[in-house]
Amino acid sequence: MTTTAQKTAVRAVGTAHVRVEGRDKVTGAARYAGDVPFAGLGHGWLVLSTVARGRIRDIASAPVLEMPGVLTVLDHRSAPRLNTDYIGLMGIKPDPTCAVFQNDTVPHLGWPVALVVAETPEQAREAAEALVVDYEVLPHDTGFHGDHPDSYPADGHMPGVTDKGDLEAELAASAAVVDEEYTTPEEHHHPMEPHAATARWEDGRLEVVDSNQGATWVVGELANLFSLDPASVRVRSEHVGGGFGSKGVRAHQVAAVMAARILGRPVRVALTRPQMFALAGHRSPTVQRVRLGADADGRLRALDHRSVSRTGTVYEFVEPSAGVARTMYDADAHHTENRLVRLDVPSPTFMRAPGEAPGSFALESALDELAEKCGIDPIELRLRNEPEKGPVSGLPFAGRNLRACFDEGARRFGWDRRDPRPRARRDGRWLLGTGTAAASFHAGAAPSTATITAEADGRFTVRISAADIGTGARTALTLVAADALEVAPDRVTVRIGDSDFGPAMIAGGSMGTRSWSLAVITAAGNLREHLVPGAAIPAGGITVRSDTTAQIAALTNMERHSYGAQFAEVAVDPATGEVRVRRMLGVFAAGRIVNPLTARGQFTGGMIWGISMALHEEAVRDPAFGGPVGADLANYHVATHADVPRVEADWVEDTDPDDPVGIKGIGEVGIVGAAAAVANAVWHATGVRQRHLPIRPDRVL
Ligand code: MOS
Repeated sequence: MTTTAQKTAVRAVGTAHVRVEGRDKVTGAARYAGDVPFAGLGHGWLVLSTVARGRIRDIASAPVLEMPGVLTVLDHRSAPRLNTDYIGLMGIKPDPTCAVFQNDTVPHLGWPVALVVAETPEQAREAAEALVVDYEVLPHDTGFHGDHPDSYPADGHMPGVTDKGDLEAELAASAAVVDEEYTTPEEHHHPMEPHAATARWEDGRLEVVDSNQGATWVVGELANLFSLDPASVRVRSEHVGGGFGSKGVRAHQVAAVMAARILGRPVRVALTRPQMFALAGHRSPTVQRVRLGADADGRLRALDHRSVSRTGTVYEFVEPSAGVARTMYDADAHHTENRLVRLDVPSPTFMRAPGEAPGSFALESALDELAEKCGIDPIELRLRNEPEKGPVSGLPFAGRNLRACFDEGARRFGWDRRDPRPRARRDGRWLLGTGTAAASFHAGAAPSTATITAEADGRFTVRISAADIGTGARTALTLVAADALEVAPDRVTVRIGDSDFGPAMIAGGSMGTRSWSLAVITAAGNLREHLVPGAAIPAGGITVRSDTTAQIAALTNMERHSYGAQFAEVAVDPATGEVRVRRMLGVFAAGRIVNPLTARGQFTGGMIWGISMALHEEAVRDPAFGGPVGADLANYHVATHADVPRVEADWVEDTDPDDPVGIKGIGEVGIVGAAAAVANAVWHATGVRQRHLPIRPDRVL
């Protein structure tokens, strides 16, 4: 350990560090789940249903089993039975979509009906494409509408409905009222690295090398599904090329485990990009109605936000878009409601800022409309409606530095030079406009364990089942550990992505780094108690463990969120309807920033996704065959380099004296409000409101 005199010199957190595994990644030395070599590997290829609803009458396996290299064909007649009667991580019931081959029912297009395993991926694919499946075709319905007669209020991971006050009375008494419908389309995550898993059974243990957002999570689900002792399951996921909510337990891991057990050899199942449209989850489309009523000075009297989203028939997943109003704005009458329609589509799932991303588009657009009606600057309108406490929870805020984000953002963006009138600025044929929106995302923490070993050579090894899904978590934890151990970061090795390191929070809900850091800081504190200054470390090192369960339980229940102010400038060609984002700025209040380099990447990544959401992304489901038209990245448009201008992100001081870690989480807040800022800028440029995403040229004209 360093002496007290050296201590002040050591401060890794808050200084920019390149990724510790960056060199491995760019040289190809880093192995992803689909790259890890196994001797005697069998390759599985999933066969997905070509009908949107029906029943499997027959699967003609026999001729396929004669094809070159084919090892087995798994389907509902041959697969082992799974246990799906359990409650998993964070109280989430298993999505039966991952419990493959349990019956002959086909609930949506792209449902896995069989797995063909062969010696090579090419042989598996050829055989899978030759497999004839005979279906009894049943009528299906994928038609999603906001006024669907079968919609119902649904809770999901938050209450479906919150309600206070008399909406109609407050709306009637309001000087200005906005009552509009906003829609967002079906969207897909598509991380750069497609999902892949290799399973093998060895010495009575199941090992899965996987691409996921949490090894602990996958262990728990597989142990439950296959009725195994969790200690007999090991999941490794050293490098993960993106997740965004899509990388939990899905059909391919389960199919790989089944096949590996039956064949007695390792089996890999990788998803193709088109298969991901059906099997990786997606964000439901939403239809949202927002009603706002305000006094002449812009103070909200009524806030009513209702959202309808869509789920599949086998699983209830709610895109809780109306939830964002529960923490952002108060009103005398306040109503939020998340409704759901069950249709014959794959289960949606968590996708970056679930609820907040589409919800903030509607709510922050409606606030911009209200500002226009009241003749008040949109930033000023928001600041006049800053709540004292959680509008629905009634809890105090653990730091709410939204005002500081707007102050700093407005100054840097040059907001005070803005002419509030629409259609007032031109650049040749382009109409120019600027827009703003607020952002927030919940800052939580969940129990985690970590170990730290003081090695005999003076180095330290941290082991934690964290997942670095591209966020830079491995590097962030290296910096956190270095400061906690009072050593330089190059003396710390952080090993992650292995469930044998003990249970830990997933990389999700923007909670990973905060949760893991607490475990690492706690372990470092425990270790320092074990180290005698000046004494030699024994050959095997000294290892201590932490478990933050009690610390997390003791955290004060407060409204703890990251905040942000989004700014966008757009140019619109009135002849073609083309919208170009010219610049974007986000200023965030997100607690202690561990690594400014990767933090900036997280924020701008979210904002760029916001541009994509505003202008490009849209999966169009064909009602006739029940699937997305053109299920590939040629047809599902995302923002490319040419669409992305200068995007800047920065942050304000946001210390939290009540929090032992001080980190809030930055994974999701960057996308929140970004699409609304772009849409509000398009209104400012053209004078025409854009209430439906994406803002395609045909919608602008
Ligand atoms: Mo995030 S949608 O919690 O991966």
